[in-house]
Amino acid sequence: MADYEPVLLRNVGVENSTSLEVYRSRGGYQALAKALKMTPQEVVEVVKDASLRGRGGAGFPAGVKWTFLPSDRTHTYLCVNGDESEPPTFSNRILIENDPHQLIEGTIISAFATQAQAAYIYLRVEFHEPFHILQRAIDEAYAAGYLGKNIQGSGYDLECYIHRGAGAYICGEETGLIESIEGKRGYPRIKPPFPAVEGLFRRPTVVNNVETLCNVPHIVERGADWFKSIGFEGSYGPKLFCACGPVNRPGCFEGSMDITLRELIFDDRFGRGMRDGKAVKAVFPGGISMGVVTADELDMRMDFSDPAKHGLLGLGTAAAVVIDETMDIRAVLRNVARFFALESCGQCTQCREGTGWMYRIAQRIEEGAGRIQDLDLLAETTANLGMMPGLSICGLSDGAAFPIRTIVEKFRAEFEAHIRDQQPDRVELVLAGAN
Ligand SMILES: Cc1cc2nc3c(=O)[nH]c(=O)nc-3n(C[C@H](O)[C@H](O)[C@H](O)COP(=O)(O)O)c2cc1C
Ligand code: SF4
Repeated sequence: MADYEPVLLRNVGVENSTSLEVYRSRGGYQALAKALKMTPQEVVEVVKDASLRGRGGAGFPAGVKWTFLPSDRTHTYLCVNGDESEPPTFSNRILIENDPHQLIEGTIISAFATQAQAAYIYLRVEFHEPFHILQRAIDEAYAAGYLGKNIQGSGYDLECYIHRGAGAYICGEETGLIESIEGKRGYPRIKPPFPAVEGLFRRPTVVNNVETLCNVPHIVERGADWFKSIGFEGSYGPKLFCACGPVNRPGCFEGSMDITLRELIFDDRFGRGMRDGKAVKAVFPGGISMGVVTADELDMRMDFSDPAKHGLLGLGTAAAVVIDETMDIRAVLRNVARFFALESCGQCTQCREGTGWMYRIAQRIEEGAGRIQDLDLLAETTANLGMMPGLSICGLSDGAAFPIRTIVEKFRAEFEAHIRDQQPDRVELVLAGAN
């Protein structure tokens, strides 16, 4: 990746960066002033021209999503998705903790563009400190006339609320999130209707990720061409990446999407290499739900198209978990399978049962009682798990299938070696349930 000037993280490390005063002194809220002089349609157009793609996982173009709102709507809501439950993602948290006004400014401009009357910022319950930081910033924004009635004399009104989840991965799925804000269990809804037509309180609703909306003030202020000068076709603009696990400097970093996974792990600007000089065995580059790559695939670009060429579901949250050479792939499989078995909401049979089966098989393999046909059984289960019309309501089932499929496919030789080395007595004991 070429030299890069931070945009989204530019205020991180600045003293008192969470205060309105500091945010304004560094150019904050000028984009809002500019947007309020534009028509909502003009704001939508500039975000569309910039080709800003959603940072929450699916990469859907934000400006295009906003145009799906019915033109004759009377009520509109904006939901800001800060659930951030994908292991090991924490870029939304870094943005909120260090620069809450950037998110608030992005939220107000996006709400203005979509003519929303209210914005709900959904935070996962574990975000205790970020919640207080964000609430203080919202209070400051109200006091300064950036929120509430007649914002900055523009005639536009917006209320902004924080809604705290109760701790479930599924509440990050946009319709699970909407149900949760409505005070219900976070069960995803069957689509269509999509939220743009029937969302929060059955009204037209836009759901966007925290990082997506943090890009909006910069696009409005500097223009679509500036945004497109970062990155390349299909993957424009500033992007946050996380690196976790046995790297020398785990953290959240900013760059353009021409960064490779190898750079994210080894470059001095990012992860600074592997702890104790250990070798990389595997990496989940986009959060665990996107799937895994091997040490031979580290030249994969962290953009919106390269991950699919490596058998992954997508870029996901661009948060990489690194697995080193000493880690047992059976434990990795079991850990990943356990997560999805626990987090499946249970509405769809194939997801509820499939994630449970995969977890039980993974446990059996780790306990030393695996069989070669278990590997085929896992692969077959993932082939029948995923977003299928009439079978599954939401994308969690895809997110459960991709990591298991790619672990088994890419590390099959290692699993087979473990299974061959097992003690027959142990297998019989475990299969008989006497472990
Ligand atoms: C199981 C599941 C969990 C998700 N979790 C999150 C999340 O924590 N944060 C997020 O922004 N999007 C999450 N998404 C994606 C959202 O459904 C939605 O696409 C996103 O919030 C839209 O925002 P964006 O277009 O700005 O990316 C999740 C999707 C699924 C299927
Ligand atoms: S696919 Fe899984 S998580 Fe999604 S609604 Fe169905 S059971 Fe729930």
